[in-house]
Amino acid sequence: MQIHPTIAGLRAALDAERARGARIAFVPTMGNLHEGHASLMTQGRDMADVVVASVFVNRLQFGPNEDFDRYPRTLDADCARMRDAGVAHVFAPDESELYPQAQTLRVVPDPALSDILEGAFRPGFFTGVATVVCKLFNIVQPHIALFGKKDYQQLMVIRQLVQQLALPIAIVGGETLRAGDGLALSSRNGYLSPDERARAVLLFQVLSAAREAVRAGDRDYPRIEADALSRLRDSGWSPQYIAVRRQADLQSPAAHESRLVILAAALLGTTRLIDNLEV
Ligand code: PAF
Repeated sequence: MQIHPTIAGLRAALDAERARGARIAFVPTMGNLHEGHASLMTQGRDMADVVVASVFVNRLQFGPNEDFDRYPRTLDADCARMRDAGVAHVFAPDESELYPQAQTLRVVPDPALSDILEGAFRPGFFTGVATVVCKLFNIVQPHIALFGKKDYQQLMVIRQLVQQLALPIAIVGGETLRAGDGLALSSRNGYLSPDERARAVLLFQVLSAAREAVRAGDRDYPRIEADALSRLRDSGWSPQYIAVRRQADLQSPAAHESRLVILAAALLGTTRLIDNLEV
């Protein structure tokens, strides 16, 4: 496995891979990798000849009061995991390499998709994500790129980015990996105290209960959402949203519509967790 701190070094290596006809799968990350990331990399290996992963904590997607400074930087451990997952090239630039001047040019996603749910609570988040992902796509020029479905709205923003800018990249969504109790794997789970970790499964449990209600034919989505919110509040969480939406565009569904997704974001102590379940 080669580790490339510079764009030029990575490009030279990938030009050589392309020259021998290799198909390239790309997994962008912010590091602090867990099994969910590793499974995307393994899937990439099954779908292409060469897997490239990036590790870059992207300042542009963090709000002023968010966790950019304390976001865990664990490159050595990440490299061991990537090696095990069969990654051939790691792009690990520092900020001055990826943003040598202030990144004043931004890729602004469609507000109809990016200003709701996560975007409503994290203004500018999807612009930061779309900007860095577009830049990484230009650098890596992969055939395939893989993103986790845990960040459901992010995956949709990236699908729209690729579609509307006609980027020749197939976007693959990887299923959410969960701990034994059901908690979705996330780099931010590491912020939880042991007590919070034990309680964190409640987010999955309220989503599962909401999914069961919808599957059983309940179409009173506002009440399903309200029930889930109060269950979280009653257990000391600060939920931000629980929303039953259409998978196609994340807008509110009419009663007859199927192919739904229930999305949630909630704070447990100071840790913000998100999760979702498709119905
Ligand atoms: O999902 C993430 O880890 C990040 O948002 C991404 C896609 C690597 C962009 O910084």
